[in-house]
Amino acid sequence: MNVILSLIISGVAVFGLVAIAVIGWLANLHVLFGVVIPYVAAAIFLLGMIYRVVDWGKSPVPFRIPSTCSQQKSLPWIKYDYVDKLDNPHSKLGVWGRMFLEVVFFRSLFRNTRMQFGNGESIRYTSSKWLWLGAIAFHYCFFIVLTRHLRFFTQPQPFFVTMIEKIDGFFQIWLPTAYQSGLLLGAAVTFLLLRRLLIAQVRYVSLPADYFPLFLILTVVGSGILMRYVFKTDVVSIKELTLGLVNFHPKVPENIGVLFYIHLFLVCVLFAYFPFSKLVHMGGVFLSPTRNLPNDNRVVRHINPWNPEVKIHTYEAYENEFREKMIAAGLPVEKKVASTESKE
Ligand code: HEM
Repeated sequence: MNVILSLIISGVAVFGLVAIAVIGWLANLHVLFGVVIPYVAAAIFLLGMIYRVVDWGKSPVPFRIPSTCSQQKSLPWIKYDYVDKLDNPHSKLGVWGRMFLEVVFFRSLFRNTRMQFGNGESIRYTSSKWLWLGAIAFHYCFFIVLTRHLRFFTQPQPFFVTMIEKIDGFFQIWLPTAYQSGLLLGAAVTFLLLRRLLIAQVRYVSLPADYFPLFLILTVVGSGILMRYVFKTDVVSIKELTLGLVNFHPKVPENIGVLFYIHLFLVCVLFAYFPFSKLVHMGGVFLSPTRNLPNDNRVVRHINPWNPEVKIHTYEAYENEFREKMIAAGLPVEKKVASTESKE
């Protein structure tokens, strides 16, 4: 699909969502936008994730899909060191190690390489860490921002939220305290978007399904930053609303600004969209057969459990059936007929 078209579709979609939130606020549909939509979005997210995980869980994976990155465990004299054990594990412990490094450090992305043309026709592969850096900054900041948001949903707020707030606002530049994770999150999403737009090969494979979540998250982050640092919002009223939501006694305070409704509505859309989009890789990584299965093909014989029963006709049975005819035709046989044997 044409890049301009992809951008227009995604941009118009996000702009339309913002417009819907503004119209809802102007029309005083506060219960709809502050209570009904958040509950519906949370339900879609939960049920959607359960559906996806159960669906993956039910998919047959009869064989191991070996990771070819490293040496597979083989004969005792073939070197199989700790890197191989993590890259190409043959035990459950190794699989746990590989999964841990994947989820926490994005290890396979860290090994990303880039093909470049050297002199003449030679090509070379160079290490390419920018995507890893952008991705890790994005995911960690997102996680920290979400964890910090727990202060809206808990009373009193848990100690770890206070701790994260203190560390995150360490530099104390600005008033209110500027949280580095929120600002860095905005920078990381912008980087990921620019990467898609500026690198021709990545642009070529990008679709609205890639741009839409980026635009959506960028707008969520942008509206959050505006709320905190530019147009002050009534955080006390917002906390009244969010605590009411989690305690299932929803109450919509009067003086909540439009920016909050935009922020909340876009977050609801993001959550409802999540299970059906590429973002679902958050859960998918744990069910990925190339990541969660030990490569023990040489140790264990894996038999496909639903292979159809194959009717076997062994050579012995075949010869028993046709022995006399074979002898008559002068064909060699393994066992002679009893009468022939005794004559001999
Ligand atoms: C995907 C989920 C969300 C993301 C990525 C997000 C992101 C952000 C960011 C980056 C900020 C700027 C300040 C900061 O760094 O904390 C912010 C502020 C804010 N967000 Fe969110 N947010 C999300 C969900 C929510 C939800 C569910 C609520 C509803 C209660 C909410 C309410 C607020 C409020 C009230 C502020 C202003 C905070 C202040 O003035 O201290 N956000 N958000």
